Amino acid sequence: MALQGKHLVLGVTGGVAAYKAAVLLRQLQRAGASVQVVMTEAATRFVTPVTFQALSGQPVCVDLWDARFANNMAHIELSRAADAILVAPASADFLARLAQGQADDLLSALALARTCPLLVAPAMNRQMWENPATRRNVKTLRQDGVLCLGPAAGVQACGEAGEGRMWEPEDLLESLAAFFTPKVLAGRRVLMTAGPTFEAIDPVRGITNLSSGRMGYAIARAAARAGAAVTLVSGPVALETPLGVERISVCSALEMHQAVMERAGQAEVFIGVAAVADYRVATAAGHKLKKDAGAPPQILLTPNPDILAEVAALPQPPFCVGFAAESENLDAYAEAKRRKKHIPLIVGNLIQDGFGGAQNRVILFDDAGRHPLPAAPKDHLARQLIEHIAPLLA
Ligand code: PMT
Repeated sequence: MALQGKHLVLGVTGGVAAYKAAVLLRQLQRAGASVQVVMTEAATRFVTPVTFQALSGQPVCVDLWDARFANNMAHIELSRAADAILVAPASADFLARLAQGQADDLLSALALARTCPLLVAPAMNRQMWENPATRRNVKTLRQDGVLCLGPAAGVQACGEAGEGRMWEPEDLLESLAAFFTPKVLAGRRVLMTAGPTFEAIDPVRGITNLSSGRMGYAIARAAARAGAAVTLVSGPVALETPLGVERISVCSALEMHQAVMERAGQAEVFIGVAAVADYRVATAAGHKLKKDAGAPPQILLTPNPDILAEVAALPQPPFCVGFAAESENLDAYAEAKRRKKHIPLIVGNLIQDGFGGAQNRVILFDDAGRHPLPAAPKDHLARQLIEHIAPLLA
């Protein structure tokens, strides 16, 4: 889990987006964090502390003079215990008070007393966001080392449209996870493939496979969190593009081949996770094949280019990582593929473990031997793979 073992203070200030903080709280907890909620008095007018208390399993702190804390030092105790403070939503008023170094309520006081990182997710009416005073405050906060997440543009609660919406909880969670991830791929350019390919037979039918894209997308996310500039050439999947990742959507193996070869020269790492069709239909029909057109159609197949092998054969190839999906003899087949394609690292997985699900179990094969990674969520394996690749790049 991306935030396993982290202790966070979630600050909630007065704004309509306070209701989204309840969803965010849940997501932070699911990612492994323990969360103490601190609200401003204004925030309690939008959502009651009872909601956050029920969700977090902890009493919510609002009052600077909270008698539950020794010596009335809530602001010190809460900020010392935290790995980070995230204020979401952060209102214009709160940003102003923060920029001024004011400490007239619990949340602003603990932000001032902090020794840990502070992240804010602004949320306000677009004119308040555009106001020079707010811009000045945000600039000051950035100079003070505060990380500003958002805001996004869109329709606002006031009915206007523009910049000022709080980032969605999943984007805030992703940013926080990235924030805590060691930047082992800082500045590296990573090119990847993921998902299946679709080889057309006619305008509505085709040959494809059961790859969901989950393994590849998890790796793209892990690489981006680790500081890489990631380009993901993706076959047809139903997944959100990971935050900060450039996605090129393709359909067939030929399209994937072209998209990769156009970019491979600039990449430092290439990771081929896609289940690329080895064959395509030699001549796809321009019209839908008719069932009653006599004998069943014969489909002639022709080989697709091997994208990974071609990238590895470039005069100055990126560091190439392949995947091997096998139904048996995993070690022998994966190692044979690694040697045949002349790549330094291949990730072997059994078809029954890898295709489609949220979990996988893999073995990494490189010059140093085999490195089994036990069954785990794909996000977790992706992190381990990135940590394995990073030292090999030197
Ligand atoms: O998407 P998921 O549901 O999460 O499933 C993940 C996965 C099982 C698809 C993934 O973990 C995996 O094993 N991907 C590779 C599957 C595969 O088709 O392997 P292969 O043995 O056919 O190919 C070996 C390597 O060559 C792969 O890196 C493949 O991307 C690459 N290749 C293959 C054929 C081709 N024409 N071009 C290629 O680049």
